[in-house]
Amino acid sequence: MACTQRRLEGKVAIITGGASGIGEACVRLFTKHGAKVIIADISDEAGEKLAQALPPWATFIHCDVSKESDVSAAVDLAMQKHGQLDIMFNNAGIADAQKGTVAEYDCKQFEIVMNVNAKGVLHGMKHAGRVMIPAQKGCIISTASVAAVLGGGMSYAYTAAKHSVVGLSKSGAAELGKFGIRVNCVSPSIIATHMAVKLMEENGSSREGKGRAMVEEWANSVGNLKGVTLKEEDIAEAALYLASDEARYVSGLNLVVDGGFTVVG
Ligand SMILES: NC(=O)c1ccc[n+]([C@@H]2O[C@H](COP(=O)([O-])OP(=O)(O)OC[C@H]3O[C@@H](n4cnc5c(N)ncnc54)[C@H](O)[C@@H]3O)[C@@H](O)[C@H]2O)c1
Repeated sequence: MACTQRRLEGKVAIITGGASGIGEACVRLFTKHGAKVIIADISDEAGEKLAQALPPWATFIHCDVSKESDVSAAVDLAMQKHGQLDIMFNNAGIADAQKGTVAEYDCKQFEIVMNVNAKGVLHGMKHAGRVMIPAQKGCIISTASVAAVLGGGMSYAYTAAKHSVVGLSKSGAAELGKFGIRVNCVSPSIIATHMAVKLMEENGSSREGKGRAMVEEWANSVGNLKGVTLKEEDIAEAALYLASDEARYVSGLNLVVDGGFTVVG
């Protein structure tokens, strides 16, 4: 198939965490490929602004993925407005700084991160399943991380939550296959989004420079594949593939987009 084709024509997608970073890049790319996108995020101002910059069928809804009722309402909006839901992209996530050893770990932090990064994905899968099972088709994608493959790079909570995303996706793929529903996840390496910049600053990075440039410089220095800086758009392309009919027999996959970072010992 030619890559100039609109690969999501006629499809309806919800993208959680769609107001910025990886989610925003996905919202823009999915819209460009013909999808009717619902941006589901807690960031009202950024979400509304993004929706206004897109064709009129793009919508923003305030949605905290840690609250099941909010996720349920986002799915209901897709059904009321468009009569179908083809793609549920559980992308919203947060990260906490790991300071000190596990002996000093703040367990409240664990719950906060798990509620968004793991339970939020379960909420998305559950309510997408509610409308996709009767339709006997659909596609669920979730954002995991290289922290779903490796330990030690991120906090205990983040690492556990992202491993959960892979487990949830495998469970979903196993159960929902009989209903024609594909379930996959995508695992990015480091990208200089708001989340990554804030985290590096909180972790007290001693690197020179600031903001996005500092994170990209660090990501490039630790990365395996040289000469390329990983961007939000690269994850959007991976998600587009998983969402499109080109991936019609792909389910249960964790598509790791890390330039080979996790295969190096
Ligand atoms: N940036 C990286 O290096 C990196 C690497 C691997 C995985 N990820 C994952 O990518 C996903 C997107 O993160 P990003 O890097 O684009 O960060 P980001 O901060 O740019 O975007 C995250 C978005 O999620 C939204 N959000 C946060 N909590 C929410 C909640 N409870 N309900 C709904 N929306 C919520 C934020 O408002 C924001 O719009 C996350 O799941 C993150 O864990 C990021």
